[in-house]
Formats: sequence, structure tokens, C-alpha cells
Amino acid sequence: MTILVTGGAGYIGSHTCVELLNAGYEVVVVDNYYNSVPAVLDRVEQITGKKLKSYDCDIRDREGLDKIFAENKPDAVIHFAGLKAVGESAKLPLLYYENNISGSVTLFEAMEAANCKKIVFSSSATVYGNNPIPYKEDMITGDVSSPYGRTKHFIEKILGDVYAADNSWSVSLLRYFNPIGAHESGLIGEDPNGIPNNLMPYISRVAIGKLEKLTVFGGDYETKDGTCIRDYIHVVDLAKAHLCAVKKILDTTGLEAYNIGNGKGYSVLDIVHAFEKVTGKPLNYVIGARREGDLPAFYADATKANKELGWTAKYDIDKMCEDTWNFQTKNPDGIK
Ligand code: NAD
Ligand code: UD1
Repeated sequence: MTILVTGGAGYIGSHTCVELLNAGYEVVVVDNYYNSVPAVLDRVEQITGKKLKSYDCDIRDREGLDKIFAENKPDAVIHFAGLKAVGESAKLPLLYYENNISGSVTLFEAMEAANCKKIVFSSSATVYGNNPIPYKEDMITGDVSSPYGRTKHFIEKILGDVYAADNSWSVSLLRYFNPIGAHESGLIGEDPNGIPNNLMPYISRVAIGKLEKLTVFGGDYETKDGTCIRDYIHVVDLAKAHLCAVKKILDTTGLEAYNIGNGKGYSVLDIVHAFEKVTGKPLNYVIGARREGDLPAFYADATKANKELGWTAKYDIDKMCEDTWNFQTKNPDGIK
């Protein structure tokens, strides 16, 4: 079986390629390396001892996609490619709509033309917006606070329309919570350009001395220690959820959404302290103002994925911090 992975050189995509190769799938990566480097794929091959095929191609390039589909005849697609910086999306909404939405539509058109109608799509917990917690898949979605989040909501709806028009599609919408951590080899991990927006890469750059201190965004939320609560999930657990989703879509038709989270909430300070335990030294942080748009707390009800995909998150917060630190110390300047 051949799986075409868009955005396969990225953070979550590369970890998923490892799991796919280890499970015996043929892997074809399509990435324009906007937010990644081809060397990541060499590392995926190094970890697995297996080869994959890759194309430097933009998902908005219909001709390029048609050729790739014709050459490889994939059985299913996992669609990671997209831009993901929430703050940037508020400043450059058209870039986000063009890349994420137009890119996805072009990909779905190419899939339909190639009669490949099985897809796992990278969605986000952000589609739940202000719903009560824990989030469940049957809640009404779409009350989102950023153009980035809206692209996820719209793409989910587009796939809903595609499936409604043609029930031979098989669609799995995976709503990720907060992926952190790295492969335990330390060869691949999260390597954002510039100053990280997300908590974990920021913490690890403070710990290694590349950034001076972490500002905790808000210490006055109505939570156990005043800081925000999130559902952090090890990226390898998340990658394994894709394997379960692929198995399911290969065997069935339909459209389902799944929460991919641990089902547990940790505060920002829980993460800081877990990280300090791993590095054995205190982390320089201050409590600052709230970040606009942040919700006080959210986490998943992951029962549906547990039952229907046979998937459960295995790794705890200590392992997430350990593997992040291992990757950071082995790659102080990222992957070149
Ligand atoms: P990433 O930026 O590391 O990976 C995305 C990959 O897609 C990159 O390699 C990038 O070069 C590629 N890409 C972007 N636009 C492309 C295009 N037009 N054509 C071809 N390739 C393109 O991000 P990630 O953290 O691995 O996230 C993967 C997916 O999961 C994204 O869709 C993201 O929105 C979604 N997601 C991520 C998180 C998270 O916290 N990391 C949470 C929820 C959802
Ligand atoms: C963010 C996005 C969300 C996206 C998710 C995964 C926003 C508002 N939301 O979620 O749409 O799906 O990333 O990519 O950006 N924090 C600090 N200091 C920092 C950085 C973060 O205290 O320097 C806190 C935040 O306030 C938050 C927690 O750490 O409470 C996690 O933040 P982050 O990693 O950015 O993820 P989310 O905000 O949950």
C-alpha cells in the first residue's frame, strides 16, 4: 500500500512517515519545504532503515500533483501541508486562505481525478472554539478566533461536502490537541524558524540558552495555578494515530472526526516544572500578561478515537519533555 503524505517533511509529517515506513507502507512525500528542509527526510530514512520517495512540489500545483498521482498511484493521502502560525494568519489572512484552502481544494481535485478518495486530514482542536470542556466530536464547531483556525474549519466542511456528493470517499478528520516532544532517536523533532510562538519550543530554547526567558502568558486564569491548561500529546503518539486512521480509511468509506489528545490537562507551569526535572536546572521564566485569543483551558475527550481507531496515547509529560530536550541538545542549531 502506498500513502502520499503532503507536508511530510514537517514536524508531525516526518514522525508519521517513520511510523508508516515501520509499518511496511510505501511513502511518497509532497512538500515545498516552506517550513522544513529535505534533510529531515534523510533522517526519517536513517531512523527506519527504509527508503521513501519525495517530490519538491506545492500542493497548489495541479499539474505537478497529477504527475505524482499518475507515477505512484497512492492508495490514500495524509494531508499535513499547510501554514500554521496563528498570529501570522491574522496579519496575512489571504496567504493562509490561499495556501491552506486553495491548496487543499487543488489536492482534492487531483485525488478525485486519480480516483484516490481516501484521506486523513490534519485538523485542530481550535475548531471547537468556546465549547465546554472536554471537547467532543459531536459539538458544533466553527466559532474560531483566527484565520488559521477558520482554514481548518472550512477544509473540514469542504471535505464534508465532497463526501456528501460522493459516498465512495473515506475521510478521517483528526483534530489534534497540543503536539510536543520528538522522536526518541533525537534525529527529528520540532524546529521552528525564528522565535517560536508555541510553548514547548520556546521553553527548550530558553533551557539551551538561545532565548533569555519564558514569559508565561497570564497567571490569573481560573485554573489550579492561574496558568492556562492544555492537552499536550507526544508527537509519536499523534503519528501513531495516523497509522490507525489510515488502516481504517483503507477498509471503509465514510467521514469521521476524531479528537487526538491525551484527555488530560496540564498547566503551563506543569510543563515548566516537568522540563526543569529533565534538565536538572531551573528555567528562567516570568509571569506576564495574557495573550490575546488564548482560552483558559481545553482538553480532549478522546474516547471515540480510543474505541473506533483502537488508538490510545501512551506517553506522559515527562517523556514529552525528555524527548524534546534530547532533540534540542542533539540539534542545537536545528536540522540543516
Ligand atoms: P510544519 O510546518 O512542521 O509542517 C507542514 C509542512 O507542510 C511543512 O514541511 C511545509 O513546508 C509544508 N507545506 C506548507 N505549505 C505547503 C504547500 N502549499 N505545498 C506543499 N507543502 C507545503 O507543521 P506541523 O506542526 O507538522 O503541522 C502539520 C499539520 O498539522 C498542519 O496542517 C497544521 O496546521 C496541523 N496542526 C498542527 C498542530 C501543531 O501544534 N503543530 C496542531 C494542530 C494542527
Ligand atoms: C496554539 C494555537 C492553536 C493551535 C495550536 C497548535 C493560539 C491562540 N492558538 O494553541 O490554534 O492549534 O497552537 O499549533 O495561538 N504560552 C506561554 N508562553 C509562551 C508560549 C505559550 O505561556 O511563550 C502558553 C499559552 O498561553 C498557552 C500554552 O502556553 O496557554 C500553550 O501555547 P501554544 O503552544 O502556543 O499552544 P495553544 O495556544 O494551545
